[in-house]
Amino acid sequence: MSEEKKEEKKEEKSVVSRRAFIGGTIAGLVVGAAAAYGATTMMPAGPKPPVGAPKEAIRGKFISLTVNGKATSLWVDARWSLANTLRNSQGLRGTVKGCDYGECGSCTVIVDGRAMPSCMVLAIDADGRTIQTIEGVSEGGKLSALQETMIKHRAFQCGFCGPGFIMSAKALLDKKSRPTEDEIREALSGNVCRCTGYHRIVESLLIVTGQKQPLERISSGAIA
Ligand code: FES
Ligand code: FES
Repeated sequence: MSEEKKEEKKEEKSVVSRRAFIGGTIAGLVVGAAAAYGATTMMPAGPKPPVGAPKEAIRGKFISLTVNGKATSLWVDARWSLANTLRNSQGLRGTVKGCDYGECGSCTVIVDGRAMPSCMVLAIDADGRTIQTIEGVSEGGKLSALQETMIKHRAFQCGFCGPGFIMSAKALLDKKSRPTEDEIREALSGNVCRCTGYHRIVESLLIVTGQKQPLERISSGAIA
């Protein structure tokens, strides 16, 4: 082979190996980026982190909650609201979602004694808290006096807003056994009802606290 031919061959070889190197590097970067993206943002929904996922890449953590008197430990994604966590991870569907941005109060739960819209609380921030939901209001399988009164007094119509109102009312009554009408209205001011005029809801609290007599036709079972 002539010297000229030998030189040509050498150059060809070096171009091929350069292409192979660049191609391999790009492929490596794409795979690496995809793996990193998958580890940090493509988290499967569910109460536990994906098996084998690197711990430092998981955007969430295990938290401890006491829900309706029961201590529990669960993994939560950092983006999950308390409302979604209670509903989807804990199966507590009594906490209903209306607006999902803190306006309607239908998702109200009691956190460490305070009524809060659970759609506005990140589950990760509720770590270590004591939470009460509508499922924890009944006593030994029996409706509480507050629930009974609200039902008997026809406080609700469709009932969608009911769990939220009951939780706000309970938080108030847990602190004050005979709140004034103004205090009741103030405590329920974060809850919206599309069906009623709020009147029966407020009256129910006055009745259950012994500040008002139930209407005769309602307590006798006649339709109001
Ligand atoms: S769903 Fe939470 S305030 Fe409306
Ligand atoms: S009873 Fe229907 S939203 Fe309140």
